[in-house]
Amino acid sequence: MSYKTIRERSLEALKIISNYIHRTPLDKSTTFSRMFGGEVYLKYENLQKSGSFKARGALYKINRLYHQGVREVVAASSGNHAQGVAYAASIYGVKATIFMPETAPIAKVEATKGYGAEVILRGRVFDEAYESAASYSKERGAAFIHPFNDLDIIAGQGTIALELMEQISSFDIVLVPVGGGGLISGIASVLKESGRNVKVIGIEPEAAPKFKESLRLGRIAEVPVAPSLADGLLAKKPGDITFDLVRKYVDDIVTVSEDSIARAMYLLMQRNKIVAEGSGAVGLAALLEGKVNIEGKRCVVIISGGNVDLTDLYRIIMRGLTAEGRMIEFSVELVDAPGELKRVLEVIYEYRGNIVEITHKRGGRDIAPGRAIVGLVVEIPSKDVGNMIISTLTSKGYRVTR
Ligand SMILES: Cc1ncc(COP(=O)(O)O)c(C=O)c1O
Repeated sequence: MSYKTIRERSLEALKIISNYIHRTPLDKSTTFSRMFGGEVYLKYENLQKSGSFKARGALYKINRLYHQGVREVVAASSGNHAQGVAYAASIYGVKATIFMPETAPIAKVEATKGYGAEVILRGRVFDEAYESAASYSKERGAAFIHPFNDLDIIAGQGTIALELMEQISSFDIVLVPVGGGGLISGIASVLKESGRNVKVIGIEPEAAPKFKESLRLGRIAEVPVAPSLADGLLAKKPGDITFDLVRKYVDDIVTVSEDSIARAMYLLMQRNKIVAEGSGAVGLAALLEGKVNIEGKRCVVIISGGNVDLTDLYRIIMRGLTAEGRMIEFSVELVDAPGELKRVLEVIYEYRGNIVEITHKRGGRDIAPGRAIVGLVVEIPSKDVGNMIISTLTSKGYRVTR
């Protein structure tokens, strides 16, 4: 069967996959609407099956392959594509072999195995896993499922736009995270081919600005990639299909810093009780950085995934609390004698500080004989209280370092 438009493919995809995916909620956020002077709606694909939108494209692709007689698929991924393909393969009873880099987070490896896929760890980085997967699929005669540069995958991701058009009568702007460009190609194609007058804006981390650079040069460019909280958006270059679609349908691409990604993740947890991974939070990060002006407009932000390690989450929370003045970290030098530590702790207690971490060192090159250094992380009700704790300790003669 041949289709004229991605919209038509997406309409078919939605019929096929709707039994196996969630129609994820679209919620208006009062907090963010107030903060940015427009109406902000969040589309929660972090609540999707497999923890991200990736299940959509994978289900449609594997359904099509299944009807062509394919019973074995191969994919390469360090995260969400792996889980999406593994989930979709389990629905159709198709064997899935997923190549992941040896550095892939254990939680993601285990989640992928949990859906019944075979996981092969190969190479230090994604590209090495990708090479191995491509040659393995040739050897086995199994179908290789590309994470983004594939019209079925793109049409599957485009089903988000079909849902959006049912959930909200009109909107002016949609903010979409951009990795290899499959997600934004699907959403932009469906909206524009439906004749919607919506600005589609793609968000990339500064760590991997491949579409921004490619659009600037007018050709596909490969960029150096740095580590990022948005680990799902670290493709080195656009695909040829996604580049053409982005050029045709996407209105702008903006980049965001690691700082604002961390802040966006923190705010989503604090204000909306929503866990988004870094890649899923870049849309909100763009608003926080003032990269997109939505004043007086209605803006949909795609929260594309929620698969984040608890250890990373812990770091984001601690960082957010420190930035907000709800946590302070400092060290105190004191005489190494019985009762001294108690005196320091009494000051913290007096101001109702809650100790989160404490270390006590009495040896080492930087510590004078007879002295000890206490390192503290303390939860406090407000920034002022932190300043009062520090000044009281200083006035009692302690050397305090922040
Ligand atoms: C959570 C999340 N959001 C967005 C993307 C970007 O998708 P695409 O590569 O289709 O641009 C990914 C890709 O893995 C992802 O995992």
